[in-house]
Amino acid sequence: MRQAYRRIFRYIPRYKVPLLVGALCVVTSRLLMVYAPRLLGRALNELKAGGSAAVDQAIQTGWSFLAVSVASGLFAYGMRRSLVGASRRAARDLQRDLFAHVERLPARFFDGARTGDLIARLTSDVEAVRFSLGPGLMYVAGTLILFPTAVWSMADLSGSLTLAALGPLLAIIILVRVLGPGIMRQTRAVQDRIGGLSARAQESFAGARVVRAYATETVEGSAFENENANLVRETLGLARTRSLLTGGLHVLGGGAQIVVLWYGGSQVIAGTMGLGYLATFMLYVSMLIWPMISVGWVVSAFQRSAAAMERIDEIFDKQPEPSVTREPAAELERVRGHLAFERLTFRHPGAASDALRDVTFEIPPGSTLGLVGPVGSGKSTLLSLLTREYDPPGSAVRLDGHDITSIPLATLRAAFAVVPQDAFLFSTTIHENLAYAVAGELSPSLARDTLSLAGLDEDLDSLPRGLDTVVGERGLQLSGGQKQRVTIARALLREAPILLLDDCLSAVDTQTEARILEGLRTAMRRRTAIVVAHRLSTVRHADQIVVLDAGEVAESGTHEELVAAGGWYARTYAQQRIEAELEGLA
Ligand SMILES: Nc1ncnc2c1ncn2[C@@H]1O[C@H](COP(=O)(O)OP(=O)(O)O)[C@@H](O)[C@H]1O
Ligand SMILES: [Mg+2]
Repeated sequence: MRQAYRRIFRYIPRYKVPLLVGALCVVTSRLLMVYAPRLLGRALNELKAGGSAAVDQAIQTGWSFLAVSVASGLFAYGMRRSLVGASRRAARDLQRDLFAHVERLPARFFDGARTGDLIARLTSDVEAVRFSLGPGLMYVAGTLILFPTAVWSMADLSGSLTLAALGPLLAIIILVRVLGPGIMRQTRAVQDRIGGLSARAQESFAGARVVRAYATETVEGSAFENENANLVRETLGLARTRSLLTGGLHVLGGGAQIVVLWYGGSQVIAGTMGLGYLATFMLYVSMLIWPMISVGWVVSAFQRSAAAMERIDEIFDKQPEPSVTREPAAELERVRGHLAFERLTFRHPGAASDALRDVTFEIPPGSTLGLVGPVGSGKSTLLSLLTREYDPPGSAVRLDGHDITSIPLATLRAAFAVVPQDAFLFSTTIHENLAYAVAGELSPSLARDTLSLAGLDEDLDSLPRGLDTVVGERGLQLSGGQKQRVTIARALLREAPILLLDDCLSAVDTQTEARILEGLRTAMRRRTAIVVAHRLSTVRHADQIVVLDAGEVAESGTHEELVAAGGWYARTYAQQRIEAELEGLA
């Protein structure tokens, strides 16, 4: 936990000036606040003396009281502005660094992370930390100054009355400490319930088509109703504890006032204290009620923020991807695109068995490799090792003769244009999705030409706003095949020497596929390419085809050689041809 706070305190020195100004404002405003009731007491005492001179004097003192109160308020405003402002800026720094850190974490981190949980750490946990550091520290500092000086000022007027008034005031701290944890627990329960309710609704809305298809509207409705009832129950429980607390606070605060009125009144009657100072005492008592409440409450806020900081630290403690894991190679001047796997064996972190075993083959620069095999045979894994999404063992994967783990990550990744198996588009326009691949501006004509290489030209004409159609969550839903073609075009725009296509034509029909392959042929002639395909006709014309089976190279050769060999490739090819013919007849 201490380490957690050290991390956030690193952001503080940047905000020295506002913090210093804030601290000064805290001290000044609290001292003025304690001074003001004395002036009021004095004015009242002067008034009691009677006579017009006394009234003038009292009015004078009254003006000073007003001036001091206004000044105290102004300094309190300055304190809030500078301290809360500094805490907001420090939180923004923390958030920015956390986001940047997450962006640099390796693929295996995201394999095990839940998006919702990451977002909660980035938002509500950061907010909890900020709250304890800004408003929390402000209340602590304010109380540390206000309480002793006010008590000292009270004791100066009457020691015994001070002791009598402090009893109920200190009981406030105990009350808050007793009821506080319950309130915290119930508040968290309510927040969890709200989370549950919105998760339920989100899931149900996202799956609206499934809900309708299975006619489970009433089932969904009653599940939602259930969550809702739970929320109401928790909320009522929280309201009960809260009203207990407010009621108790009123009783104790009022009790302190009554003690002062009764015991102080007897001192006034006995003539040991001026009537005006009784009013001073009353003001002090009401002034101290809030700091007493905040003591108990700030302690809980600090506990909550310590837990939040630990959750944030868990992410900061994850190591970002190393740029190189072995001795850096001489910087690659120009990547030719010669790929080689040598006795590559790889197991995913935490997996029970190897995804690739003893894989050895080579891809000459500029040639096209077809990579096929049953589902789960390791095709995607092989591609993910090339771009070091996962780190392969040393010297098992080489680019232009260099062990890829010795090539700086940025250089390595710049050599590849990847179309992953699951097509992902940002929810923005098609044009902006494509522009993601290029450093500068992307001209509409180049975007159009590339989309037509990827076989999307006809579809593009039918889209409502052409290139400027917004796709994804907040726009038009593209079909699976259309999405795949946009991602292909995006990869083509990235002028990289090596192209990796992971089963990216699975969602288009055979005719469309043939047309796209025709368009891609020119693009692939200039590059090294690996084409993973489920449909074997996709890789027919590849220079070389490798068949993976359970992580091992089962067959390799050209299409003709593999068909002649009569193995898995030949059987599957024959089967798929029959299927295609039947499809054509239908
Ligand atoms: N991130 C991962 N963590 C653990 N195991 C994985 C991961 N990704 C894939 N695998 C496993 O590795 C094997 C190969 O998967 P994959 O490369 O996706 O096959 P393919 O692309 O040929 O269908 C499978 O057994 C799969 O379950
Ligand atoms: Mg795959």
